[in-house]
Order: sequence, then C-alpha cells, then structure tokens
Amino acid sequence: MEKILVKGGSPLIGEVQVSGAKNAALPILAAGLLATEGTSKFYNVPKLSDIKTISLLFESLGVKVNYKPEENTIEMDARNPLVTEASFEFVSKMRASFLVLGPMLAREGRAKVAMPGGCSIGSRPIDQHLKGFEILGAEVIQDAGFVEARSSKQLEGNTIFFDFPSVGGTQNVIMASCLAKGKTTIVNAAQEPEIEDMINFLIKMGAKISGKGTSVLEIEGVEKLVGAEYTIMSDRVEAATYMIAAAATRGDVLVKGAPYKDNVALVSKMREMGVEIEVFEDAMRVRNNLETLKPVDVKTLPHPGFLTDMQSIMCVLTLLGNGTSTITETVFENRFMHVEELRRMNAKIRIEGRSSLIEGPAHLEGTTVRATDLRSGAALIIAGLMAKGSTKIIDIYHIDRGYVDIEEKMRKLGADVRRIEE
Ligand code: UD1
Repeated sequence: MEKILVKGGSPLIGEVQVSGAKNAALPILAAGLLATEGTSKFYNVPKLSDIKTISLLFESLGVKVNYKPEENTIEMDARNPLVTEASFEFVSKMRASFLVLGPMLAREGRAKVAMPGGCSIGSRPIDQHLKGFEILGAEVIQDAGFVEARSSKQLEGNTIFFDFPSVGGTQNVIMASCLAKGKTTIVNAAQEPEIEDMINFLIKMGAKISGKGTSVLEIEGVEKLVGAEYTIMSDRVEAATYMIAAAATRGDVLVKGAPYKDNVALVSKMREMGVEIEVFEDAMRVRNNLETLKPVDVKTLPHPGFLTDMQSIMCVLTLLGNGTSTITETVFENRFMHVEELRRMNAKIRIEGRSSLIEGPAHLEGTTVRATDLRSGAALIIAGLMAKGSTKIIDIYHIDRGYVDIEEKMRKLGADVRRIEE
C-alpha cells in the first residue's frame, strides 16, 4: 500500500505551478460528448486518476479518446452514436460520472446511469438534476441501482428553478438544454467559475448561452454542436492548497496559475488572519512570518461564498490562530471527517452542529492518519508540515484523484514529503 510520509518543520519557499482544474475538466469533457460533428482537443488537462476514470467511461460509451497525461491533453471523437448506459464500475469510482446524463439524454433521447451505492448518494442527492430533465420533457425512472431519463422526442426549452444552486445540476441541465427546442432559463443557477469555463467551451462548440457567471442562465437550443479546442482553467482548490501550505509553514511562495478573481473569499479570510498576499495577473505570492495568526470565522456557501472544498484545508490554517476560530459548513451535511484525524495529531477541535470550533494555537504532533477524502488528504499533508516529527498518511488514493504530483511540487518548495510503499 502506498502512503505519504511528511516530516514537519520546514517553511515552504519558492514557486509552484498550479495544474488544470479537475472540477472544470470533468464537466467540460462531458460537454464534449455533445459534438456530433468534428473532434475536440483539450489542453491543460490535469494528470489525475479521475480523468483516467472518465476517459475509460467515455470509451465504454463508444467515444474515441486519446488521453496523454504527460502532455496534459485529451483528444475526443464522439461522432458515433453513444452507448446510453454508464455502468456501476465507473460511477462507483466517481460521482461526477452523472455528468454524462445530460449530454446522453440530449443527443440520444435516453440515458441510464448506475447509482453509486451507500450513504454517499444519501447525503448527495441528484434530485435537482432530475427535476431539470423532467421540466425539459424527459421521463425519469429511478429504480434499484440506476436512474434512467428518456424522451421519445426532442427536449423542449422551459424555465427551471433550482431549490439550491447545485453545481453538477446546473452543468447537467445546461448540457441537456443546448440541443433542446427553444429557450431554457435556469433560475438560481450555480455561479462557480468552473461552470463559466464549461459554458465558454460550449459556446466554442456553437451553443447559445447568455448570463454566464450570474444566477440566471438563458440557453437557446441549437441544431448541433461541433467539436472544438479548449484550454481548461487552472485549479483554484490546488492553488488554495499551496497558498495555505505557505502560510501554515510560515513560508513565502509564489503560486502561479492562481487568478485572484477565482479565490476572493479565500484571500479575504487569509488576510483577515494576518497573512500577506500579493496579487499578480495570474499568480499570488503568500508570505507569513508570524508565530500565530488572528482567529477567524468562516462559513462555506455557494460561489462567490467560501468554497466547501477548501474548508478542511482552511481548518488546518486556523490551528495557528491565537484563540478560537469557527468553520461552519452549509453546503454538505457531513464534511468534518478530517477533524477526527487532526485531533489524533493533538489539535483541539470540537464539532457543534454544522460548525467546528478550533482552539489555537495548536502544537501538532506527527502520527499515522487517514485521508478520508480528497481535500482532507491535502489538509493532512499541510498539518504534517506543521507538526513535530513524522506524519504518515494512509488511503492516499483519495489525494491522487485531485492533486497532480503533490509530493514533487511540495518537495520543490523545500518540504520533506515522500511516497512510500509499505
Ligand atoms: C461539485 C464539485 C465538488 C464541490 C461541490 C460544491 C465537481 C466534480 N464537484 O460537486 O467538489 O464540493 O460542487 O461546490 O465539480 N444537492 C441536492 N440535490 C441535487 C444536487 C445537489 O440536494 O440534485 C445538494 C448536495 O447534496 C450538496 C449540495 O447540494 O449538499 C451541493 O452539491 P452540488 O453543488 O451539486 O455539488 P456537486 O456538483 O456534486
């Protein structure tokens, strides 16, 4: 089993280049399924296991995929009719596989996708996606282990109101409505930059979408979409991870491929704590030489609020706070799994309802901890960098789903982070 071993104590110093965004790449690749003419080529595609999974899923749907991880490119030819069933094998690995529902339904009039098992779906329903498809005229059937959407005729534009601005729901419904008859209006749409990136690609393919970056989107259906070339935006969560790692280790790091506009909430909160952040055109320099920082209160919200994916990483920075910080999670029900692991490292954190209360400044001690999900895995690496002694992180396959070459990137900044086989 592969593990990551972190030895704490060194400040991170230097420059790091952020990779392409997983959460933009996955929906953009799904949008590529809509191209019945021409082929698509994507640049700045991150070298990640989730991208491999979606490539294999696409191949199972009859799409020709040429993924070159070392070159960060994917070429896709989706011109043949799509197989309309996505099997459990892929969906169970990655929830974002649901993003094929919208394009398959729009193109083929049918889409059947396996449900990932267990509690993950319990706490992350897809009712808003399905409601959207129904309003566009599809019939939706949910049965043991799968969900199917069908429409005997072309989907028809309509108005869809989301009860909650779901990121995946917005993306799925945009994709479904691009080939629908007439105009679709999505009200209370999610506004995340990754959605804007997907819309930019769809527009390059010939889609007619207005309202980008706002909560009301209008999509005028077109007859067909044509493959296009597109460069994926850089990963704002990866950028946040190195920014926080720099501050947490009292370092000085220039994070390149990190536009300020995508991380305004994070920068504001870090500055509130006393971290120095200098903004450049496509980069940010993060410096901290303070022993302790000011405590802070953070609440996760849909964009432009504080991103839930950065919550566990931010929690680690608040361990330097000189007093009690609170982090309130409003987007997901249960996203405090990192807390138990941080406690094992001597952090004083308690959970009250949807908030975690963090007592700083902490004196972390290295031990063996478990990456319970992708972002908590990154949070534990940063905690390891702050801790006395060595921290061993297990279940690191979560980290590989979303971080390109994390040990190498950390090592280049002077951190002692290694992958070991045990
Ligand atoms: C995406 C991101 C994920 C991020 C999340 C919120 C990808 C691949 N993943 O996930 O990293 O944490 O946005 O920024 O881009 N919900 C419903 N009904 C639905 C859909 C969602 O109740 O039909 C609820 C979910 O249970 C959750 C909340 O809405 O509590 C947010 O989910 P959503 O915005 O859909 O997130 P994802 O698209 O799954």
